[in-house]
Amino acid sequence: MRIINTIIETQQFLKSQSGAQIGFVPTMGALHAGHMELVKRAVRENDISVCSIFVNPTQFNNPEDLKKYPRTLEEDCKMLEEVGCDVVFAPSAEEMYPNLPKMKLDFGDLETKLEGEFRPGHFNGVGIVVSKLFHIVKPQRAYFGQKDLQQCAVVNRLVKDLSFDLKLIICDTVREESGLAMSSRNRRLSETGRSQAAFLYQSLKLGEKLFKEGLTALEVKEKISRAYADRSYFTPEYYEIIDFETLNNIDLYKKGNKTAIVLAVFLEEVRLIDNIVF
Ligand code: PAJ
Repeated sequence: MRIINTIIETQQFLKSQSGAQIGFVPTMGALHAGHMELVKRAVRENDISVCSIFVNPTQFNNPEDLKKYPRTLEEDCKMLEEVGCDVVFAPSAEEMYPNLPKMKLDFGDLETKLEGEFRPGHFNGVGIVVSKLFHIVKPQRAYFGQKDLQQCAVVNRLVKDLSFDLKLIICDTVREESGLAMSSRNRRLSETGRSQAAFLYQSLKLGEKLFKEGLTALEVKEKISRAYADRSYFTPEYYEIIDFETLNNIDLYKKGNKTAIVLAVFLEEVRLIDNIVF
């Protein structure tokens, strides 16, 4: 496995592999089994697999969150080597941003709701770094996790609107046995916090059940909000029932429509997100 820190070396190496199909998994490191599913799939489906590890400063609207983001490059590389990853691209912030980008990407309605509402500028940062990475790696396939549902929608729009010549592949959310979605941020939770956080998935499953039984979105949200209020260690940010494609809110369950429930909560000052699709 090659570990490369510069853009030019990455481009030169990948260019020398003429005709090879490239599968790409962008990450911010602190890798866990969720990331590894994406990487394993990229290894299986392509001639060359590339994983980037870059904690992208421009997508953090909260400087504390950026500072506290776990950085575990050595462990990450070990895990990647074990599953047969070919190239790790791990640039510094200076390498990626000799100058901070002045241009802005506007994803319209996608970026003013949910994550966009609570993390202003976040998707602009994601869009710019993902575009840069796509230009550097030039993959045929790029792998993203459904765990970040809105990010998938944003990247899908980026690929379509800017005609990136690649296939976007969305992979299922990998969970711990408790149901807690794997996340690099889980490392910041205490043991108690980790077991309390299992309630996130339970609240999504409960919402799905109630919504399918015919409750309106408002009624479901009221019940869920009470359940969170009973657990005062949570500070909920949002819990919304939305159309999977448009991310617009829906009021009533309709069989055959792809629906998602998405949420964000704070627990022990860690911001956690999760979703289910049905
Ligand atoms: P990061 O949070 O490191 O996630 C990298 C990829 O792994 C994303 O596509 C994310 O959805 C996926 N992922 C995370 N947890 C997962 C889980 N439990 N199951 C399945 N997939 C999971 O998302 C980012 O980094 C950044 O925004 C990035 C796209 C790299 C741009 O900086």
